[in-house]
This record gives sequence, C-alpha cells and structure tokens, in this order.
Amino acid sequence: MHNFKLALVAAGAVATIFASAAAQGLPPLPQKDSYTVGFAQTESNNPWRIAQTKSFQDTAAVCNWNLVYTDAAGSAAKQVADVDSMIAQGVDVIFLPPREEKPLLPAVLRAKAAGIPLFLVDRSVDASVARAGEDYVTFMGSDFIDQGRRAAQWLIDNSDGTEVIVELEGTTGSSPANDRKTGFDTLIAEQSGMKIVASQSGDFARDKGRQVMETLLQAHPDVTVVYAHNDEMAIGAIQALEAAGRKPGVDVTIVSIDGTRDALQAIIDGKLGVTVESAPFFGPIACATMNAYAAGEQVPAWVKVEDRIFTIENAAENIADAY
Ligand code: AHR
Repeated sequence: MHNFKLALVAAGAVATIFASAAAQGLPPLPQKDSYTVGFAQTESNNPWRIAQTKSFQDTAAVCNWNLVYTDAAGSAAKQVADVDSMIAQGVDVIFLPPREEKPLLPAVLRAKAAGIPLFLVDRSVDASVARAGEDYVTFMGSDFIDQGRRAAQWLIDNSDGTEVIVELEGTTGSSPANDRKTGFDTLIAEQSGMKIVASQSGDFARDKGRQVMETLLQAHPDVTVVYAHNDEMAIGAIQALEAAGRKPGVDVTIVSIDGTRDALQAIIDGKLGVTVESAPFFGPIACATMNAYAAGEQVPAWVKVEDRIFTIENAAENIADAY
C-alpha cells in the first residue's frame, strides 16, 4: 500500500491527510459518480455555523453530491432524530458535527449498524464509548486543546503577569467547550499572578455571552481579562463591558477563538486582543476524505485542520476573506 499526502488549502484551512491506520469493521463506501450526502448541522445562529454550512453547500455542486441538509436548531435531541432520518432515507454517507459529546453517541453507532459510513466534522464524541476507525470513519477538525493553549500563551506574552480572568464557556458538554477550557486553564494555572475567578457557559451565542458577562461583571468588577470560547460570546462581552462604562482593549483584555469578520474588526478597533482561528471551511476536506475512503485508501483517525492566529499584526490584511 502506498502512502499518500494530500494538502488542502480551503480559504485558510489546511488539512493534511496521511494514509495509515486500518479502517477495520467500518461500512465500505462504493465508488460512484455522485453520492447522497447527509450533513446534520447543529444550529445556524452564528457566522461560524453559517460559513460551515455554506462550505458544504458549495462543495456539493463541485463534488456532485445530492446534499441532504438538516438543522438541529440547538437541540441535541433533534440532531439525533435528524441522523436517524438520514439513516432511514438510506443516504450514502453522513457528516456530523455532534452538538454535545454524549447524546449523539447512539446515533453514531446506529449509522454504523445500518452500513452507512459516518464522518465526524469539527466536534467529537466521547472517545471512551465510540472511536474513530472503529465506530465511525474519522474525526475531521481542529485541535481545540491547542486553541485554548494558544489563547493563554498570547495572554501571557501580552500581560504584566497579574490578571483577574473571567471565562465564557461554550455549549456545556460539547468538545470545543471541554477542550478549549482544558487548554487555557492548564496554562493559566502555571501563572502565579493570574487567576480565573469565574467560568460560566454562554452557549457559544452572542446574546447569552452578553447576559452572562453582565452578571459576572457585577460579581467581579475587578476583572481585567475575558477569555471567550468563541468570537460571538467575545462580542457579547464587549457589548456588556461597554454598557457598564468599561473600555474593552484598554482596561479589560479580551481573548477569543474563531476568526470571524466581526472579531477581526474588533481587533482593528482595538477592542479584542486576539482570536485564535478555528476554520469552518470543511466542505473540500470532507469531499477529499470521503473520496479517499471510497477509493480504498485508509484515512487516519484524525484529519487535523491547522489554524492561524489573528492579532493587530495581521487582522487588517485578513478581514476581506473573513466570514
Ligand atoms: O465547534 C466549533 C465551534 O462551534 C465554534 O467555535 C463556534 O463558534 C461554533 O458554534
């Protein structure tokens, strides 16, 4: 068997695929001119999700997919039902960004039992119950722990060493919320002058982030840093701080993850310190990975997306391409 390396550059997302691990016991995917492809989206309430969906829709035309698209509207129960419906329809493959790590597990296992290859996109499931290469084909996505670590490292590099930090977590039980917290908190715990005084979920949503920040600001008026697990909550936090007469970027440093257009504009405006990229452009990566699998190539357990980092050094030159 030959090793192959495929580098994909999709508007900032770079994925490298090495043939290696065996995909034993997984449903095969016949090579066909066109496929019926299920994409079970989690929600559509933020620019990241909208960009991810658009990437799949644009790719459908290029890769000759008949795309079956569903939107779970922020409900893990609906997302389970959406996957079950795709199984009942007999789609060829399913791409799934599981909203939370545990509730989607049964649906993942049912796809395999029905003989439908399932690929996890951007979010993962509980690895103690379901594994890539055994229960589903692969996980395609970013290293969320490293994203949190890079956000913390930027803060450490741009701080005098003493900080009172408030953390706005993503959706409770989701892999990005769990991992971005682990990466950030672990590095901050090693800094003697830095303390995370509160950590609460804003569900990856702008208005929820704003509301949570309003409450936390009352309990912790001495806050000097906000770490938000995504840009939407960071923008919400900026709104809450400004409404309270604070100056984001001047008396409170904001640190975030994603790389949306609004976040890059907030960096240019001096309100946001950094956003670590989490690229949402999965369509081309999905097509290449699925075609490699259909061709009998063995795909790795993790098709890793490499992410950039946006600061005042490069926000202006990248905003035109942002979503
Ligand atoms: O799973 C990736 C996260 O989900 C993004 O950071 C967030 O914006 C989205 O809702």
